[in-house]
Amino acid sequence: MAETLYIPTGADRKSVYEAIVPQLQALTKGEVDLIANSANVVAALKEAFGFFWVGCYFIKNSLDSLAQELVLGPFQGPVACTRIALGRGVCGSAWKTSQTIVVPDVELFPGHIACSAISKSEIVVPIYNSVGILIGVLDVDSDKLDDFNETDKFYLEKIVSIIGSCV
Ligand code: SME
Repeated sequence: MAETLYIPTGADRKSVYEAIVPQLQALTKGEVDLIANSANVVAALKEAFGFFWVGCYFIKNSLDSLAQELVLGPFQGPVACTRIALGRGVCGSAWKTSQTIVVPDVELFPGHIACSAISKSEIVVPIYNSVGILIGVLDVDSDKLDDFNETDKFYLEKIVSIIGSCV
């Protein structure tokens, strides 16, 4: 397909998700590289919704212990923290619990890691590979309070399966 995203103008968020999901499936079809597919998916989310920050963290070996940690992957937005331990912040909590976490107000989330003071709310969605192993998380930050709801959870969980299913 042509590498151009069609985004309906003036549509509500659900309709935009409905429009981009099949395009993301087509864009990543046949590509098995996790970095390439996640890079295109985060770029598409940034372009479609203008979120403040969209990016992936992937589970990798720690530099100085046998532990694993989340390491920054493809993202769109301002520079961000590079490594996050299991259970730390929203990302580390989503990893630890294997659950999507919606944070309406980041100031009220104990241990939230503030990469930017502009970020006001966020959603973090676990990414699984094709055999169901958790490999990382997708983190979407908004500069508005309470910007994410069940619609975002539903579609972002669908969208991370597009990222993870290639490996
Ligand atoms: N706020 C996240 C850290 C990542 S940045 O927002 C990009 C957290 O608490 O895990």
